[in-house]
Amino acid sequence: MNRSKRKQTPTSQDTQLEFFKSPVQLRTPPSTRYQGSKLKLLPWLWSNIADLEFDTALDAFGGTGCVSYMLKDRGKHVTYNDHLRFNHLIGTAIIENSRIRLSDDDQDSVLSRHGGTKYKDFIAQTFGGIYFTDEENAWLDVVCQNIPTLRGRFKQALAYYALFQSCIVKRPFNLFHRKNLYMRTADVKRSFGNKATWDTPFEEHFRGFVEEANAAVFDAGVPCHAVHHDALRIPGDYDLVYMDTPYINKNGVGVDYFDFYHFLEGLVDYANWPDRINRQRKHLPLNGVRSAWSNPKQTKEAFATLFERYRNAVLVVSYRSDGIPSEDDLIDLMRTFKQKVRCIHFGEYKYVLSTNGNSKELLIIGQ
Ligand SMILES: C[S@@+](CC[C@H](N)C(=O)[O-])C[C@H]1O[C@@H](n2cnc3c(N)ncnc32)[C@H](O)[C@@H]1O
Repeated sequence: MNRSKRKQTPTSQDTQLEFFKSPVQLRTPPSTRYQGSKLKLLPWLWSNIADLEFDTALDAFGGTGCVSYMLKDRGKHVTYNDHLRFNHLIGTAIIENSRIRLSDDDQDSVLSRHGGTKYKDFIAQTFGGIYFTDEENAWLDVVCQNIPTLRGRFKQALAYYALFQSCIVKRPFNLFHRKNLYMRTADVKRSFGNKATWDTPFEEHFRGFVEEANAAVFDAGVPCHAVHHDALRIPGDYDLVYMDTPYINKNGVGVDYFDFYHFLEGLVDYANWPDRINRQRKHLPLNGVRSAWSNPKQTKEAFATLFERYRNAVLVVSYRSDGIPSEDDLIDLMRTFKQKVRCIHFGEYKYVLSTNGNSKELLIIGQ
């Protein structure tokens, strides 16, 4: 399938890409439906940091990699980081990788059953009725056992990239936080969602996303890296550190990325997945500790540790006006580490998935 065919089911990201018609010329990062992506805000973000003096940059909470991608495009020596393994593979595919692409043969190899291979059927046996149909679960079992047989980590990362995006677009709300396959399959009149996208076969999505990922690969002429650490423990020194932490709203409700995307973490740890599952919960997430970044009682201290760790760099924080800690608290905290602190608000921007009209996006920059 070609990309234009997949695009017949428009996504909210198609609208987001309109932003790239801005006067600031940017190479467009691939579109995703990841929670909290800054894709829409890149021209605004760049216009506020372009004049800062920096060559090396750390994107400490990298997510989709779109900010790293922009910085790479601007010739910066970027280090992408995310503590989730699946995100690290996204960073590997489109940030660290500067020239490897997936061929048609590679794709065919990922998508076919190989004679002589004895495939496990863990996903089909475990996740029936939770996220995907039985047929789709069987497809996932084969594909995630084939990807590690591709030669070279960049090819594998590109194939995982396409697999993750395919899984995300086929999910109601684009998340894995609930056992809600029934929302896809129920024969009801719908006021939301995109049934055509949900029901498009995995293989079609996969090939479309490989095309997008291949098109996103470029050589910026400077080495870029993707790493995988807790943000407080990333080795190295950087001229600028960009921090886009998980958001906790004024009611103390945070975004727990590990819980939202655990299924993708499982796909990249197929052999150990059975031992990592929390079977007490209906949606079978992975066992794990709740992060300080999704706990309103711990975030202020976590920010203090983060600022202290990178105090020698220019600090750039993406934040929201109704977050916890408050905007003023965060500015005061940054002032304890930096002499010059500015806060810039972005007009009327709202998150794609957010219904909270009072929450404004902002940037806090400390020099
Ligand atoms: C708001 S999202 C970043 C979005 C990103 N700027 C983009 O535009 O796609 C926050 C990211 O932080 C990551 N994260 C959460 N806790 C972390 C930690 N302790 N260390 C590093 N990354 C973390 C999550 O996996 C998530 O991808």
